[in-house]
Amino acid sequence: MNISANFAISLDFKMTTIDGKFLPYRSQYDRDRMDIIRYDADAILVGTNTFINDKPPLYLRNPKLIERRLVNGFKEQPYICILTSNLDLDMVNDILIKNKNNFIFFTQSEIYDDFLEKYHAYGEVISTPCNKNGLSLKYIVEILKNKGFNKVLIECGPKLLSSFLEEDLLTELNITIFPIMIGSGRSISFHSDINGVINSNWRLKEKYISDSEVYLVYDKVY
Ligand SMILES: NC(=O)c1ccc[n+]([C@@H]2O[C@H](COP(=O)([O-])OP(=O)(O)OC[C@H]3O[C@@H](n4cnc5c(N)ncnc54)[C@H](OP(=O)(O)O)[C@@H]3O)[C@@H](O)[C@H]2O)c1
Repeated sequence: MNISANFAISLDFKMTTIDGKFLPYRSQYDRDRMDIIRYDADAILVGTNTFINDKPPLYLRNPKLIERRLVNGFKEQPYICILTSNLDLDMVNDILIKNKNNFIFFTQSEIYDDFLEKYHAYGEVISTPCNKNGLSLKYIVEILKNKGFNKVLIECGPKLLSSFLEEDLLTELNITIFPIMIGSGRSISFHSDINGVINSNWRLKEKYISDSEVYLVYDKVY
């Protein structure tokens, strides 16, 4: 299964502002490219904070690409996977309402059944074991593999992205460099106590420069 992270960094390598907000920048080219990357995804995955803070449109917007998905045997839209320990989401969130039945919530096992009820209306809820970083990403990846998914797009913020990198679960990186400086902000940072050295090498597969951004795609080298 291809587990592809899709994320943007500023010229000073930050993924969010200091208060955890998304980079205050987006071009039309970047939006269009996002749809192309999502075209063949079986699922898009984010964590609680991205879902709550950004309310990101976690679906394809381009009608031609949606049509092409259907012709090529894909579901109309990829599933939306949310990693949330406490299932404490705002249920009037527009994305929840617009994408009913298209969600997979991964949450810790100790959630009361009656609390789960309201989430079942939006999709599947999967009890997930935890480790030191939060929910077990290895477990989640196995579940998604067993569903027969071929491509999962990770569109989360720096904390969850760091966990995916630390646990060496990604197979592709889609990086966009935006022409801004953030200053104080947050970026990828490993929790591990091995001096942040992780055993992973990447090969540049594609590069593209638009009028203002740089796009880099890296493959995992085994
Ligand atoms: N630059 C970019 O490309 C980009 C992309 C997406 C988002 N963002 C920004 O990033 C901000 C959020 O960043 P974030 O780092 O908090 O990301 P996130 O996507 O919200 O993921 C972090 C959350 O995932 C949950 N989680 C469950 N298991 C985890 C594990 N094993 N390891 C880590 N987290 C786990 C935790 O929530 P629970 O405690 O509820 O389990 C955790 O707080 C957003 O506000 C958004 O603005 C930037």
